[in-house]
Amino acid sequence: MQFVRAGLLLAAMTLVSSQAIAEEGDPVNGEKVFKRCVACHTIEPGKKKIGPSLHGVVGREAGTLEGFKYSDAMLESGIVWDEEILSSYLENPKKVVPKGKMVFPGLKKEQERLDVIAYLKSVSEE
Ligand code: HEC
Repeated sequence: MQFVRAGLLLAAMTLVSSQAIAEEGDPVNGEKVFKRCVACHTIEPGKKKIGPSLHGVVGREAGTLEGFKYSDAMLESGIVWDEEILSSYLENPKKVVPKGKMVFPGLKKEQERLDVIAYLKSVSEE
């Protein structure tokens, strides 16, 4: 019985710690992942390219950067970019905003999404 309990405890602990790792994004690696966004996005406040500036995007309401012409779908999405919905959007933009105009195949690896979100957060604090 003792052994079973110890085993269960160990299993629970491994589960918790691996989840903790998965939820931590690494902003340094995120900067590398962001290279896949720079064709269309900058992190400079207000500076748009094909896409809007991503400065301060975490926590921002979707479609609200002044001076950028969003798709109607984005304007009407009602999304607030918390980390969870950002991650879904970056995994598959068309799934979250089907008629949106971000042409991006998506970041399939969860760690890359966490990293780039951590990077976006870190640069927005500057
Ligand atoms: C080919 C160009 C392109 C690439 C590459 C691209 N995006 Fe976009 N992105 C856009 C466009 C265009 C929009 C506006 C979408 C709309 O209005 O429907 C957008 C919108 C967004 C938004 C919503 C912004 C807001 O103000 O509501 C986020 C967040 C975002 N992109 C993140 C990223 C990230 C992170 C990457 C890289 C992993 C990336 N994008 C790659 C073009 C791109």
